[in-house]
Amino acid sequence: MFEINKIILTLLSLLALEVMAKFPTDPKPCKYGDKTCIMSTIEYLMQEKSQGFASLNLVKTEPLKVAKIVIKQGAESPVNIDLTFTNNDLVGFSKIKMVDVKGFGKNLATKHELYCTASTLSLIGDYSIKGRVLVLPITGTGISNITMVDSKIRIQFVGSPAEKSDGVYMDIKSVRMSVEPGKMIFNFGNLFNGDKILGETMNAFLNENWKEIYQEVRATFTKAFAQIFSSVINTVFSKYPYEKYFTE
Ligand SMILES: *[C@@H]1O[C@H](CO)[C@@H](O)[C@H](O)[C@H]1NC(C)=O
Repeated sequence: MFEINKIILTLLSLLALEVMAKFPTDPKPCKYGDKTCIMSTIEYLMQEKSQGFASLNLVKTEPLKVAKIVIKQGAESPVNIDLTFTNNDLVGFSKIKMVDVKGFGKNLATKHELYCTASTLSLIGDYSIKGRVLVLPITGTGISNITMVDSKIRIQFVGSPAEKSDGVYMDIKSVRMSVEPGKMIFNFGNLFNGDKILGETMNAFLNENWKEIYQEVRATFTKAFAQIFSSVINTVFSKYPYEKYFTE
């Protein structure tokens, strides 16, 4: 029994060494709180490692998979719809531009913030809709493309320390997100059982009224996105203790 424990311990410490040895040198870690370096590293990861980057536990972000978003607006809302997106792709993250970052200093237990712009972000995949939009009835099932043009995206969270045997990891908590599109383009295919004229009229109507529609659905939308992004970020920071991501 004693022997087996010893072997396991040896194996574990070898594994730990392996893990430490594999921390990537490309991209190089930034200094704590170094905005310019952190922003260019994020842009680099989004552009060059958009298909995933195992050495930082970064999942594929272009496209980013969105399993399901359910929007249910009650009758009191002018946008009274049941809208479900399933198996959608969010396309456009490889072209984001960072505007600012806050936090990522030596103390992980503070507020951190990422602020970027995206020239186009499209949510593409299966949808199903039923209800009323500003008094007009709408029904349909098919493939939709919801595109946000010139968006300002902010994500804020608080770091929470998680002690493990090899160091202190960062868990992220209290995630808040805001997405401010400059414009939205809706394209719901096969509305009204494929009635072409009704479908085109409805899409044109949605596009004219995108602002009012977005105001009504933004809370549900941003909550769904916040969940996706916090999972991406949490996964990245679950690979190594926080201090491994930065240098002094
Ligand atoms: C989605 O819609 C946008 C805006 O109309 C368009 O530029 C883009 O090519 C569309 N994407 C797909 C896959 O249809």
